[in-house]
Amino acid sequence: MSSKPGVLMLGIVAHAQLEFAALSEVADTVTVTAGSREKFISDLDAGVYNNVVAISRTYESAKYTGRFDAELVGHLPPSAKFISHNGAGYDQIDVAACSARGISVSNTPGAVNDSTANTAMFLILGALRSAWAPQTSLRAGEWIGTNFPLGRDPNGLKLGILGMGGIGLATARRALPFGFKIQYHNRKPVAGLESEPEINNYVSFAELLKTSDIISVHVPLSAATTHLLGDTEFAQMKDGVVIVNTARGPVIDEEALVRNLESGKVWSVGLDVFEKEPVVHDGLLKSPRALLLPHIGTGTVDTRKRMEVMVIDNVKSAVTSGKLLTQVPEQLRS
Ligand SMILES: *[C@@H]1O[C@H](CO)[C@@H](O)[C@H](O)[C@H]1NC(C)=O
Repeated sequence: MSSKPGVLMLGIVAHAQLEFAALSEVADTVTVTAGSREKFISDLDAGVYNNVVAISRTYESAKYTGRFDAELVGHLPPSAKFISHNGAGYDQIDVAACSARGISVSNTPGAVNDSTANTAMFLILGALRSAWAPQTSLRAGEWIGTNFPLGRDPNGLKLGILGMGGIGLATARRALPFGFKIQYHNRKPVAGLESEPEINNYVSFAELLKTSDIISVHVPLSAATTHLLGDTEFAQMKDGVVIVNTARGPVIDEEALVRNLESGKVWSVGLDVFEKEPVVHDGLLKSPRALLLPHIGTGTVDTRKRMEVMVIDNVKSAVTSGKLLTQVPEQLRS
């Protein structure tokens, strides 16, 4: 038997081959890229992964393991001490259940700031032009079509950033040169923005809803943020508000969003994430005022590689020095 610590890789390494090869010198890696939750749990119970100290996982691997909820965490071998998640959002992992079993969890904060903010800008500008309608008529051979909707210029429009973490801030900074007026709401005001007075405009949640021309969502998904925007909140917004979401689908009550899009309360939407993805609400698919992307926020070679390197660096640090590099904040607080 090898004396190297075991590492279970859920999902492939597509870009960081050199880093992965280096990891394989200090750990016994096994990669799983298919299967089912039932099979994964029965393999765990059968002791197939009993030497595993660290687990890395991708967002997509939930297709064949399901969420890392309390049930799944309960089947992990006692040797498992670290989970390195590939992504900024780690709502697929029950961190409290991991903490209770002495398992440390890391994510990839920072690495996704720029590419996700670029996606948000694309959707903000695209939604302000209702860009999907002319796209569709062009592709149908009708050039501009008969019902070309004139859009809005950003100049002077109020952009409400909901959630001012790394991505929200990167989006605000990008939006500024277009002429947007920036305001934001966050659990608490963000420190250190004094030198950026055009961004340093903290408002209450109610104020953000009431006065924003565009609302761009950047909060992590949790019990507290599930359906943060629903019928009650849409009712408080300006008529003709534009909604953009590059965070997580369930933050918005999608049924309510469709109702408000159909009524015209919401003028247009730009969405990269959906409540029941990969299933997308029919009312969104049918709407000419919905610009839709299939969760490609971080979908660049550069960012995906950076994320993979960060995941592998975390795993390597875990197996060689017993410590993750970018452990999730709630475990650091406790
Ligand atoms: C991402 O944003 C956070 C918050 O502003 C910042 O601390 C961090 O350095 C950023 N990371 C990168 C790689 O841009």
